[in-house]
Amino acid sequence: MLLSLEHINKGFGKQGDLSYRPVLNDLSLQLEEGESMAILGPSGSGKTTLLNLVGGLDTPDEGRVNFRGEDITGYSPEEIDLYRNRQIGFVFQFHHLLPQCTLLENVLIPTLVQSDKLSREKSAERAKTLMKRVGIWEFKNKLPGILSGGECQRAAVVRAMINAPSILLADEPTGALDSDNVEVMADLLLELNRSDGLTLMVVTHSIELARRMGRTLEIRSGKLQQI
Ligand SMILES: Nc1ncnc2c1ncn2[C@@H]1O[C@H](COP(=O)(O)OP(=O)(O)OP(=O)(O)O)[C@@H](O)[C@H]1O
Ligand SMILES: [Mg+2]
Repeated sequence: MLLSLEHINKGFGKQGDLSYRPVLNDLSLQLEEGESMAILGPSGSGKTTLLNLVGGLDTPDEGRVNFRGEDITGYSPEEIDLYRNRQIGFVFQFHHLLPQCTLLENVLIPTLVQSDKLSREKSAERAKTLMKRVGIWEFKNKLPGILSGGECQRAAVVRAMINAPSILLADEPTGALDSDNVEVMADLLLELNRSDGLTLMVVTHSIELARRMGRTLEIRSGKLQQI
């Protein structure tokens, strides 16, 4: 088992206050290594909240988030940083590329913490291989501002993949794309899933994209239901 969430409760605001907003309610989830999963749910249902818990960007009020059998909610800040950097790749709804950096520089951002020359050379090599694979190597020295949404989104996937994560968490990766580019993104994610054994957890409003994943779940009233 790669990931298992056990009886997660998560809300925002102070418990007992009128403003308290319960979001996830006794939610449990199991994900095997190499699986691909789509998560659907209406706006505000807690999809991003769920990805943030898995990615170690936020902590549950109650429950455990086990990664390869270890509860990450008990990690120290240093351990959680390491977990995020080594195991997790994040793709956001709007690619969040830095406008002042070239595509190649953007892709290499997660590797900047590497201090030795050999690691940096390896990362540069991996960036090249991945960028070629998704067809954006020719734009390596271009700024994101002059590229299309699909090209930027592919760069965001490469950036998420640069440290060879175990899980790719994607939050509406096709939210800003037309249907041709949704297809390209689905092909890319599934290719990484098949060839690299990358586990996928993809939040989407796109039925097209969801259909391509191995399993589709929906968040309803704070819980996940198979659909
Ligand atoms: N940091 C926060 N502080 C307070 N409330 C929050 C916070 N983050 C999320 N919420 C609230 O929690 C609920 C779930 O938010 P979340 O972002 O997980 O929804 P979502 O399913 O990703 O929605 P969308 O499809 O619109 O992206 C929403 O009502 C939101 O307003
Ligand atoms: Mg969201």
